[in-house]
Amino acid sequence: ASVPALVTGTGYGGAVTALRLAQAGVSVEMVEMGRSWDTPGSDGKVFSSLLSPDHRAYWLRTRTKQPLSNFLGFPIDRNVTPYTGVLDAEEFSGITIYQGRGVGGGSLANGGMAVTPRQSRFSQILPTVNAAEMYATYYPRANATLGVNHVDQTWWEQSAYYKYARVGRKHAQRSGLEFVMVPNVYDFEYMKKEQAGTAPKSALLPEVIYGNNAGKRDLSKTYLAQAKATGKVRISALHEVVDVRPAAGGYTVTIREINTSGQTVATKTVTAAKVFFAAGSVGTSKLLVKLRATGALPGLNDEVGRGWGDNGNIMVGRANHMWDATGAKQSSMPTGGIDHWDVGGAFAEVAPIPAGIETYASLYLAITKNPNRARFTYNAATGRVDLDWTTAMKQPAITMAKSIFDKINKKEGTIYRTDLFGPAKTWGDTFTYHPLGGAVLDKATDNHGRLKGYAGLYVMDGSLIPGNTTVNPFVTITALAERNIERIVATDF
Ligand code: FDA
Repeated sequence: ASVPALVTGTGYGGAVTALRLAQAGVSVEMVEMGRSWDTPGSDGKVFSSLLSPDHRAYWLRTRTKQPLSNFLGFPIDRNVTPYTGVLDAEEFSGITIYQGRGVGGGSLANGGMAVTPRQSRFSQILPTVNAAEMYATYYPRANATLGVNHVDQTWWEQSAYYKYARVGRKHAQRSGLEFVMVPNVYDFEYMKKEQAGTAPKSALLPEVIYGNNAGKRDLSKTYLAQAKATGKVRISALHEVVDVRPAAGGYTVTIREINTSGQTVATKTVTAAKVFFAAGSVGTSKLLVKLRATGALPGLNDEVGRGWGDNGNIMVGRANHMWDATGAKQSSMPTGGIDHWDVGGAFAEVAPIPAGIETYASLYLAITKNPNRARFTYNAATGRVDLDWTTAMKQPAITMAKSIFDKINKKEGTIYRTDLFGPAKTWGDTFTYHPLGGAVLDKATDNHGRLKGYAGLYVMDGSLIPGNTTVNPFVTITALAERNIERIVATDF
């Protein structure tokens, strides 16, 4: 078989690529290692619940690995049957990298926070990209197509489900810190109906990270739905790209078909004139580093594998006083954050603690300016790709997060919670939700994502971004892909 364009992965980068190629008249073959999340399980729901995750929650693990691993000091993980579930907790040295798996990539698992960075900070993210163009054209295009919306402020001010967020705002403001509302792709009008009892609950159940059974505009409802409607895009789920090498007419791509237990059921090859890597920062980096080392693509340059960062992710909980109850009811979709970037190097979103009971705690996921970067390398002895990250590399993130939370604790007379990430452990410093980099723009690729050394090979996902976006990353990944594919369609087809 021979196709004009093959896209590896169906997350943000892949979905943008497929839609814009199809609209330009190009037939697109999309290859996705995860399943298509469109069929309900025996409980009538597509996705597993958050508070009692089952096999659908995790990618091929025998035991869950929940980001909040402990509660009141007790571990809460449980055994599950290995299955091609929606959230991968992929373990590297010193860090667990959470990623979405399935048709829609990270959009299936994530919290939907759709944040455009401040333009004044854009040059810190992508110094070789024309910022004026991004803010005039590509960010607006990304936000519109993703279906980004703002919560109705009047409703938010009174909803019991956002009490935790209002407590977070109060504490920030009492310490003189700037609190900002942030948009989301979750349909806030739908959420109102959940609260009113006129629609099945998802965010208010709460559901997140193992998938939302309603309400969230994940990519299968936006970019991928539009792409399919062109009639020019085919998606093969439970298919993993394992090899790409030059051949007459383009590249031979080897694909492993798996079942939901992760076993290989078939191996296929296809020739593609052009191959787009959109397997996510980790997926694309692993593939390219291995293909360079094993001789399939030896001409990839030394930048491939470099520049990986965790977007400065760090999590922490604070204990509140009895009069600052955060509520047993909490919406899973975060709506606000503390912007202390310019002063302390941290942007901390106020996150829910979806325990279903009053916890008297505030939880935060901070994005920090942590400058540490790691590198992916191929390990010939194990046949795997390693990442040289260490837990100590999170220290700058802790220092930056403390610029916010030491201040709030001092003002409020409160302390850090030490029961959420392990026994007597304050900082959630062993994981990230926001992997970025590994095939950085204008280094591993040219300034539009064309891989150096190979005409017809492209990188379209979060691997292009050098480790940090100052905010949650998917709007920037989407906008950058919009910018790059517009140029590629105009000049390479
Ligand atoms: P993405 O990871 O989305 O897609 C890559 C796809 O490729 C996946 O579907 C994967 O299965 C597939 N793949 C990988 N290797 C393959 C191979 N060899 N062959 C075939 N397919 C392959 N961001 C944000 O902005 N706001 C938020 O609120 C959150 N919240 C959040 C919560 C949680 C729990 C997670 C895990 C993540 C977030 N994020 C987030 C991060 C966000 O989801 C992430 O940055 C993007 O999904 C990355 O988009 P990409 O296009 O780079 O890859």
